[in-house]
Amino acid sequence: MKVNALASALLTAILIAGFSAPSLAEDKSASVSAQELKAKTDYCKTCHGLSGQGFRGSLPMPRLAGQQPEYVSNQLQAFIDRRRTNPVMFNVSHVLTPAMLTALSTYFKDLNPKPLGGAPRDSLAVGKKIYEEGIPAAEVPPCASCHGPDAKGADAFPRLAGQLHDYMTRKLTNWDKERGQDKANPDNSAIMQPIAHNLTEAQVKAVAAYLSYLE
Ligand code: HEC
Ligand code: HEC
Repeated sequence: MKVNALASALLTAILIAGFSAPSLAEDKSASVSAQELKAKTDYCKTCHGLSGQGFRGSLPMPRLAGQQPEYVSNQLQAFIDRRRTNPVMFNVSHVLTPAMLTALSTYFKDLNPKPLGGAPRDSLAVGKKIYEEGIPAAEVPPCASCHGPDAKGADAFPRLAGQLHDYMTRKLTNWDKERGQDKANPDNSAIMQPIAHNLTEAQVKAVAAYLSYLE
């Protein structure tokens, strides 16, 4: 059984009501119980924050709250396939069943904590201009044209609002080394590749700082 939106809403309701969860389908291997989902998301939250707001440890752990389910699912699959290289998230994701992967993809969507903040504020106006207008001279299109006017994303286009600035700076700087690593089978990361490539370090920092404060 595929865990659809209705099923995950049901799971949430069960969790909130605190009932012991009935098994939703006969075939355990193809479904996820409320306890299993809670145990797994409790684990995710040890790194990604109790409300999915992200966390600054030795490495920035990205915000997952409000993230687009299709994007989350794509990234978990990319870690498993090693198209996106990250040893920590490979270990986390390669043990997930397809049903758990689907359930996790929708779980964080409705969490809405305040942004973690912490970025320098000296170039927020520059960042806003890049986000809304792009950089025509460097062939960088407006970020808003794909990530949305409010940076909430849609489908395969990730939400960037409230994302940790140091996380985004690292991703945009290292795009070629971490994303789309199966060169024979390009994935959605190819869409961002030229954009990340054409931004200067100062422009990356400015737009990442601006986005990190958006709610
Ligand atoms: C031990 C810490 C740790 C745990 C536990 C963990 N993560 Fe992660 N996660 C990370 C780090 C670090 C990154 C950033 C990887 C990178 O820099 O590319 C990440 C990245 C991600 C991303 C990509 C986000 C983006 O914006 O592209 C997703 C999705 C994700 N994790 C989901 C999960 C889920 C779901 C769980 C629980 C099953 C989980 N993580 C558990 C550390 C962790
Ligand atoms: C043509 C569409 C398009 C435009 C324009 C665009 N992006 Fe993206 N962006 C994407 C897609 C698609 C992804 C997801 C790639 C993937 O799935 O690997 C992405 C991913 C990202 C990520 C990684 C998010 C994460 O959580 O790891 C960042 C950061 C980002 N974009 C920033 C920007 C910035 C800043 C701009 C403007 C300078 C911009 N994007 C313009 C399509 C676009």
